[in-house]
Amino acid sequence: MAETKTKKGKKSGAKSNGVPKLKFNTGWEYAPAPESKTHIKLNDRYELFINGKFVKPLSGKYFETINPATEEKIAEVAEANVADVDKAVKAARNAYEKVWKKIPGSERAKYIFRISRMIQERAREFAVIESMDGGKAIRESRDVDVPLAANHFFYYAGWADKLEYAFPGRVPRSLGVAGQIIPWNFPLLMAAWKIAPAIATGNTVVLKPAETTPLTALKLAEIIQESGLPDGVVNIVTGFGQTGADIVNHADIDKIAFTGSTEVGKIIQKAVAGTNKKITLELGGKAANIIFEDAPLDQAVEGVINGIYFNQGHVCCAGSRLFVQESVYNIVLRKLKDRIETLIVGDPLDKNTDIGAINSKTQLETINKYINIGKKEGAEMYQSSCPIPGRGFFCRPTLFTNVAQSNRIAQEEIFGPVLAIQTFRTDEEVIEKANNTPYGLSAGVWTDKGSKIFNLTTKMRAGVVWANTYNKFDPSSPFGGYKESGYGREGGLHGLSAYLKI
Ligand code: NAI
Ligand code: MG
Repeated sequence: MAETKTKKGKKSGAKSNGVPKLKFNTGWEYAPAPESKTHIKLNDRYELFINGKFVKPLSGKYFETINPATEEKIAEVAEANVADVDKAVKAARNAYEKVWKKIPGSERAKYIFRISRMIQERAREFAVIESMDGGKAIRESRDVDVPLAANHFFYYAGWADKLEYAFPGRVPRSLGVAGQIIPWNFPLLMAAWKIAPAIATGNTVVLKPAETTPLTALKLAEIIQESGLPDGVVNIVTGFGQTGADIVNHADIDKIAFTGSTEVGKIIQKAVAGTNKKITLELGGKAANIIFEDAPLDQAVEGVINGIYFNQGHVCCAGSRLFVQESVYNIVLRKLKDRIETLIVGDPLDKNTDIGAINSKTQLETINKYINIGKKEGAEMYQSSCPIPGRGFFCRPTLFTNVAQSNRIAQEEIFGPVLAIQTFRTDEEVIEKANNTPYGLSAGVWTDKGSKIFNLTTKMRAGVVWANTYNKFDPSSPFGGYKESGYGREGGLHGLSAYLKI
């Protein structure tokens, strides 16, 4: 059946990726600590997951997914065309009408709990495949993505039989078939964010993962199959933007949930206008991290590092703009520069790695384009001098000072490890600057004063504001944006209502 892709007789060590030994810039050297690949199972080829079975695509077409740290092919994946999407939607409709909308919430919960447990049991395998397919550091996939994905299923399993308590006095009803399209930055976690609330509320699903990172969603399909979830409740179709558009335009879909670029979000919004389809969009961001002079500076610098450099900056809520109060600007800048010198860029499977591979060649080109734009606009660039591997898609942690509010690097989403730094004097000034963006997904505030936190959080046009921390997630707290960051909320009670008629 499934073959393992790990080459026998070749130890997965630091050199196995062609990635050089890691160097720590202050003269220290870390011995490589690669995560083993021997426990994972990958096929050479993946089919579509429709009606509980893995089936060959009617299109007859396949595409490759590569490891962005090595540029090597990992597997071939089916490319669904409009007929394949139709087949998946029919399976989802059938499962909805005949089974899923009829069974009690307590029964739905059992399957969802089971899926959560199975993700936990196979957490190591999921973490390694996530890092191989998408390039993120194993520390992130192991400690963030996979546990949060399992938590999300666990959390929504708990709601499945309590919907009338979630919305007292109302009779919540499911919508039907949900079409869900997800991006490449959190492949398994985004699948969990989409699937868990949808099926907990009695809907069925057709989900499309991103073309560069389809593997963990397909591994999740294996778990779904093993869990005994009724056939057709979750269908997973792989492909490019066209496959996503085929889902969006299918007449028998009741709800579209999308996470990805603002550009595609707008296309989807237009396509859905005038239909009965419900929609949630989670789009880009240009979050501000704000450091006041009274903040615990070391902690704040660590939060800024975490907010923009970890996960290669491939985070919609990444703190990509930093505002520092003038009186502490020099010291914060010094600390930031010192800290990025110590970040380790390299093999995503090495447990020491802080910054893994950029997800794709295209994304690396986008990031480099913005670095050049920043320089041309007159901002001053500083990059870590750390070594980066000769092969694969990598980017050094980068920061810009001397940034003007109107600069493109301060206005547009870069989606990479690039920070734009500005200064401010007063609360009013920083609120105005931070809000001066087409986006409004998240923000961070660093200060010793509770009053300042409350003043800022009420005036910031951002869906989430973190105080003295950054990028903290929990399934019970809603997440989503203002303005061009999209609309609708995911997570928590709000995440339930996105899949219900109340
Ligand atoms: P994208 O928006 O093109 O891709 C996201 C998903 O949408 C993928 O599954 C893709 O196949 C699908 N898709 C593409 N075109 C579609 C269409 N016309 N109809 C339906 N589905 C479609 O994002 P891309 O091109 O990979 O990244 C471009 C930029 O988008 C990034 O540089 C970043 O700024 C932003 N982005 C934001 C994300 C977020 O979490 N908010 C996630 C990924 C990208
Ligand atoms: Mg890949």
